[in-house]
Order: sequence, then structure tokens, then C-alpha cells
Amino acid sequence: MSLDDSRDGARDLVREHLLRMPGYEPVEPIDVVAKRLGIPEDQIVKLDANENPYGPSAKVRETLERYDMYHIYPDPAQSRVREAVADYVGVEPGQVVLGNGSDDLLDLCARLFLSPGDTLVNFPPAFGVYEFLGRIYDANIVDVPRGEDFSLDLERAEAALSGAKLAFLASPNNPTGNLTSLEEIERLLSPGAVIVVDEAYAEFTGESFAQAVGRHDNLIAVRTFSKWAGLAGLRAGYAIVPKPMAEVIWRVKIPYNLTAAAEQAIMASLDDIPALNANVARIIEERGRLFGELASQSWLRPFESEANFLLCEVRGLMAKDVRDRLRERGILVRYFDAAGIKNCLRISVGKSEDTDRLMSALGEIGAGVAG
Ligand SMILES: Cc1ncc(COP(=O)(O)O)c(C=O)c1O
Repeated sequence: MSLDDSRDGARDLVREHLLRMPGYEPVEPIDVVAKRLGIPEDQIVKLDANENPYGPSAKVRETLERYDMYHIYPDPAQSRVREAVADYVGVEPGQVVLGNGSDDLLDLCARLFLSPGDTLVNFPPAFGVYEFLGRIYDANIVDVPRGEDFSLDLERAEAALSGAKLAFLASPNNPTGNLTSLEEIERLLSPGAVIVVDEAYAEFTGESFAQAVGRHDNLIAVRTFSKWAGLAGLRAGYAIVPKPMAEVIWRVKIPYNLTAAAEQAIMASLDDIPALNANVARIIEERGRLFGELASQSWLRPFESEANFLLCEVRGLMAKDVRDRLRERGILVRYFDAAGIKNCLRISVGKSEDTDRLMSALGEIGAGVAG
């Protein structure tokens, strides 16, 4: 068809609901921000995407340099890396599927269970990818909002789940940082819908439901090397799935959804767990210090968090303005103004020098605000 034949041409062939849906809003890449602000990249304090300030293990750098099979496709069965991950988590290799970041596994879960019109339950405030995937698969998204302390409304959740196919739930939750207990998960599992527990931040708390997957045929745990192991840029995530589901996943998964580089990086990370755990411990310690510093400002109210970030309510100033004024100083944080998280900032835990720069900037911005 020539471009003159119709008004919109082939765009009219795009699935209609996709034409209407808003896109996911990721954070801006650091080089773009640095250029706009006229600040060198290495002077930006990047606390907006819950990345690991210590980066990957030194073994990852060495391994990627040494590896010389980048021209060969990776193993589509992910055999070696599945064994290593299964060993790390304490599950069977047959329960593990890896992919291009945990986002890829969340997408795979949505692809497995959601036909147009099927119900997806979401527990806002929640990670934005869940709603984004619900829209892509044209699901009926049913929100069960969290309470004031960000806990789940279990009664409403059970009712919503009895007519649903799937629910996504992060523990610790992003952006609120709180955990869901095993008892709560078990109640959510009882109506029979598939519950995907997103454990992107599990290593910062030590709590995981991965081993409970073997006991429930409708529980999936999704995890990542992005946060605790500093591999966000390499895209290395995985799911722990009940075995009968795993068989289907291997049939519908894109064959090479884990790059050779990510596979190598995972193996090297798992060969250096004590060093990575030491970084996790430093982040947890810094989280405590950051919490104390924020709480000492009368106009800021941080919430306790089990992850590598803190949600913080702003009082007497617009959180968006605070975000902008931090940005002018080269300090990047996220801001939220949705139901349940009105006028809030989400601040990733960085190194102690990042906390110092952040707090000195917040001191200037907040000067004169009455508590
Ligand atoms: C709750 C949650 N799940 C998943 C992800 C995505 O992680 P990955 O880098 O593994 O795709 C994030 C990233 O911020 C997250 O906060």
C-alpha cells in the first residue's frame, strides 16, 4: 500500500487498545540528564532508579573481558546458569527460568495467563510495570489499594482475586518499601488465581517466597541480579515457577532471552557472593543513616523500608519542586503524587558521600520551611 492510499496507512492495523495506551515512563538516561544540566556524568548523584552504587563484582568485569564466544548464540535451555541460580536460591533447576531482567519474566507471566478481558489484580501504590503489562495484554485491571501504612486490604484482595487470573505483588514493595508476610501470601493464594511475588529487593531483607513455590501450584517468585548484584545494565532476572508451568514457559519463551554476557555475569556474581553481600550490608547500613538524616528534617517524613530506597513524604513544599531543585544540583530522585503516595519522593540508597550531598542540598532547599 502506498503511503497516499489511506490516512494512517498501516498504523490502522495496530491492535486498537495499543494505540490508546500510555507508555511506561522510565527514568531518563544519565547521559541525557548530564548533558541538559551541563554537569559531567560522574558528578551526578543518581538516586532515582534503585541501582547499586557499588556496581558489579570485580569477577564480572574480568569474566566479560575474558569470554570470547560472543559470536555464538547463548544456550536457549539456560542449563548451566539455571543450575547455578537454583543452587543459590535453594530450589530445583527445573523450576528456574531466566530472562532479560525481571521485567522480561513479569512479561512472560502476563503472556502465560492474560487473554483480553481477563482480570489482573494490582495493589497500588505499586511498581508501574504491572499496570503497563495489564494494558499491553488488554486485561481488566482491578486495583485493591493498600492502606495508609501500605499494608494489603486482605478481605478486598481475596474478593478481587476470586474472579481473577493473575496478580502482581512486590515484597518489599516498590515504591513503599514494606514487606508482605507468608501468611498474607497464603491468604492471597487461596482463591486460586496466580500470584506473582516480585522479589526484586529480596536480598536487602533476607525474606523470600522462592522456596514456597514448590508447595503452591499458583505461586511464582520473580527475582533479579539488577539490585543486589549491580547488573541492572546487563539485564539478568529469573523466575521460580511450579514445574507444570515451567514446561509451558519453555515452549512460549523467546529462545535467546538471556544474553551470553548476562549469563557470564550471573555465573561470575554467584562465584563472588560474599563480596556482593558485603555491598548489600553497606547499603542496608546507609539506609539506616539516610532514614535518620531525613527524619531529622521537620518537613520530611521517611517511611521505614526493607529495600534499597526510602519513600519520603514532603510537607510544606511541593515534592515535585524539591525533585526539580535537587536535579538542578545534579541529584536525581523520583517523585510521586498518586493516591496513597501524595507529595512523596523516592530516594535510592547510595554511598555515604551521596547521602552527604543529598542532605546538604535538602538543607538548603528546606531552609525556612515551618514543620
Ligand atoms: C519491584 C520491581 N520489580 C522489577 C524491577 C525490574 O528489575 P529488572 O532490572 O530485573 O528488570 C524493578 C526495578 O526497579 C522493581 O522495582
